[in-house]
Amino acid sequence: MSEVRIDHAVNSGTFSIDGKTYEVENNIWVIGNDKECVVIDAPHNVDDIMAVVGDREVVAILCTHAHDDHIRVAPDLGRRTNAPILLNPRDLRLWQQTHPKENPDNELNHNDMFYIGGTGLRVLHTPGHAEGSVCLHVPNLGVVFTGDTLFKDGPGATGQSFSNKDTLLKSIHDHLFALPDETIVHTGHGESTTIGAEKTKTELYAL
Ligand SMILES: [Fe+2]
Repeated sequence: MSEVRIDHAVNSGTFSIDGKTYEVENNIWVIGNDKECVVIDAPHNVDDIMAVVGDREVVAILCTHAHDDHIRVAPDLGRRTNAPILLNPRDLRLWQQTHPKENPDNELNHNDMFYIGGTGLRVLHTPGHAEGSVCLHVPNLGVVFTGDTLFKDGPGATGQSFSNKDTLLKSIHDHLFALPDETIVHTGHGESTTIGAEKTKTELYAL
């Protein structure tokens, strides 16, 4: 069996919330071997995501949260690949602002495990940026995918609807800073970092 690897690209589009629209760049993360993979989030354009997937089978589309820059093309990607879309149920309200007529196929709940090519991904429910935000920890690869919960140089945004800063900081301390320091953090936007590097920036994460 071929080894599990992480493939990555960046694409761009818009993010709309609370009546405002912003231009954003999003990371596309695909984890898998030569035969099958999972896609984390579905930003902006199905063709951009399929360019990373290639001819592999997509086993699942795992949504870190339901802001529209992460899920707008998820139903189209699901139809293209026949893969189920999974989302934490606490983000259904947010999801329905973008997709009022079609729901995700299944739930992502805290401590759920997914296996791809024999490698486990563990779901961490980390509310704060959104109520249903999750991170995906892959211990075998020493990586955590944080969506918009944790970035290089700080926590995700909490100035908009469905966000709460105290909740976000508690999620980061309870679930992300509990991971090994050397864990690589792959984020929803911008550069990667490590848990250890972020932990040293104590003023950014003061409760
Ligand atoms: Fe977001």
